[in-house]
Amino acid sequence: MSSHGIPTPMTSYPSGPLVGTAEVPGDKSISHRALILGAMAVGETRVTGLLEGQDVLDTAKAMRAFGAEVTRHGEGEWSIHGVGTGGFAEPGEVIDCGNSGTGVRLIMGAMATTPITATFTGDASLNKRPMARITDPLALFGATAHGRSGGRLPMTIVGASNPVPVRYVTPVPSAQVKSAVLLAGLNAPGETIVIEKEATRDHSERMLAGFGATLTVEDTEEGRVITLLGQPELRPQQIAVPRDPSSAAFPVCAALITEGSNVLVPNIGLNPTRAGLFTTLREMGADLTYENEREEGGEPVADLRARFSPQMSGIAVPPERAASMIDEYPILSVVASFAEGRTEMRGVKELRVKESDRIEAMAVGLRANGIVVEEGEDWWIVEGRGPRGVPGGATAASHLDHRIAMSFLVLGMGAQAPVSVDDGGPILTSFPIFEPLMSALGARIEKG
Ligand code: S3P
Repeated sequence: MSSHGIPTPMTSYPSGPLVGTAEVPGDKSISHRALILGAMAVGETRVTGLLEGQDVLDTAKAMRAFGAEVTRHGEGEWSIHGVGTGGFAEPGEVIDCGNSGTGVRLIMGAMATTPITATFTGDASLNKRPMARITDPLALFGATAHGRSGGRLPMTIVGASNPVPVRYVTPVPSAQVKSAVLLAGLNAPGETIVIEKEATRDHSERMLAGFGATLTVEDTEEGRVITLLGQPELRPQQIAVPRDPSSAAFPVCAALITEGSNVLVPNIGLNPTRAGLFTTLREMGADLTYENEREEGGEPVADLRARFSPQMSGIAVPPERAASMIDEYPILSVVASFAEGRTEMRGVKELRVKESDRIEAMAVGLRANGIVVEEGEDWWIVEGRGPRGVPGGATAASHLDHRIAMSFLVLGMGAQAPVSVDDGGPILTSFPIFEPLMSALGARIEKG
């Protein structure tokens, strides 16, 4: 959907080889966190490589509404003049986080221990998503939430005037929940403790430490225990945002399924809490190599090279890997369609509460394009049809979900007949240059 609410249908045609270098944009998770922590530091944080997708732009706007000075200096170059921990002003407007669950959930956490009131809303997708997973722990700090039934947006949060620190075991594997609690803990006195049974992406922990917060992480029998000492003075940082592995997934997977392809995707962060898809693809027999492996800013980074891989087989993806590739199951199901045999994806209930119900959205669209898919509440299985065996030819609904839209457009590149999506507009939330980048590699995508 465009900003005017008009859907943008898009069609992807069977493509010749995809060849060249794909420079994908900055990491979405890290971009949100750089803006929010920058706004909570004292002084000026500088960011390069910020993702300028709509989700992140909405977070930038929100940080301005809470009193931070947020300035764009050039492509991906931003500065944030922060107001300090506990320094947020009460916004004079409703905070519209658009499509972004990460934006709204992290910002709710960041403001919940400051005695101000803010009202949050989003688009039709975000306003359906569960927020109780955030407001439950925020209530323990002393914040109150008034939302629609089922804990949905629009919602007003009244920040705690005398916040207390919290010890919280996250009931679902969610980096957003963990991060909201940690951000709330910043303005509570004493130690806030978050325990997660399964490790989720750890960008908040890494960045909090970078900003000078006192934080420890321990692996125990109970899980990963993160202890944060409240009320630090966060020191402004220079942040170079690495490129997004979740965006890299699209050109990588497109190359694997499109005959003759050879694509280099440079400078991709391979933080183990994010890199599960690439491990899975290699286990399936994908010709995917890591070149120039190195460390940058404390994160493992490599250039990914993906070549057409007609020899892939389906596998059972280990459920314990789910958190490290949670956003990549839609595009994995596309690759699985081109593999021989079944790909089983289990322990993935969280997929049902993303920007869309991603199991349902992919299952319906893949079936329309000639793939057999079975599904249950927390699992799904894709029956591969082999490297040249995917019929295609149908239109899939993207349900306001960028990753669903991009996944079906990639499907069309390797299929026998074109694949359309009813609305490619949501792609702007995370990967605004998707269409020109894929076209430059040799894909044929048309709007309308
Ligand atoms: C994110 C966490 C994940 C992920 C989302 C980004 C983050 O969500 O799906 O795209 O930046 O913390 P959950 O916390 O709901 O798993």
